[in-house]
Amino acid sequence: MLARASQRLLEIRQAFRQLPQASRSFSTALNYHIDSPDNNPDLPWEFTDANKEKVKEIISHYPSNYKQSAVIPLLDLAQQQHGGWLPVSAMDHVAKIIEVAPIRVYEVATFYSMFNRTKVGKYHLLVCGTTPCMIRGSREIEDALLKHLGVKRNEVTKDGLFSVGEMECMGCCVNAPMITVADYSNGSEGYTYNYYEDVTPKRVVEIVEALRRGEKPPRGTQNPQRINSGPEGGNSTLLGEPKAPPCRDLDAC
Ligand code: FES
Repeated sequence: MLARASQRLLEIRQAFRQLPQASRSFSTALNYHIDSPDNNPDLPWEFTDANKEKVKEIISHYPSNYKQSAVIPLLDLAQQQHGGWLPVSAMDHVAKIIEVAPIRVYEVATFYSMFNRTKVGKYHLLVCGTTPCMIRGSREIEDALLKHLGVKRNEVTKDGLFSVGEMECMGCCVNAPMITVADYSNGSEGYTYNYYEDVTPKRVVEIVEALRRGEKPPRGTQNPQRINSGPEGGNSTLLGEPKAPPCRDLDAC
């Protein structure tokens, strides 16, 4: 009996081994830390003088015994200052400011996909990969970006300008597919986070090239047929002023 069961287990294992290896894509970069020359706890890191003022202002929003609640805005500021990613020494510095163990800060930076724990490009392009965008062609959008830039997902171009990542739904499903560009080219003073909606493979390449030339391509829908979030070709509902219901007083109707 035991021999038959183990033979059956062996057959099942072999059947699985013969299946083509399913590829598994991760929406965000893998987060683990290994010391490297440009990312280790011995590298000094602190906020700039201008950002030290912002740190004081951020901390002032919280009661003095709840300083740790400032962890997200402080990490965000650190990331903007550091060109779009958080080296371990920046996280350690934030931990020191809010007086918690560094692991408390690493946990937050690892959980939220808007924090990058490895280098990204000055323009970090995030393709929405959730279902509405996926069925409207987000895979083709990502392929076009990766091919045009000659990188893999989460890899930075040699000139340091661009990287491509993936995010989950960014709340623009009605204008799917869409990408976001996190623009770290001007530090924390000029940081912007821009949505480009109704994109096509051709349009995303045009957006990349406009950014490379230092231009600011218009944000929002890239489809001239669409007005804001209305249907292509113009609005079809709510075209006039709403009419009063026939009877407002239910008791009198
Ligand atoms: S699914 Fe892409 S924005 Fe919602």
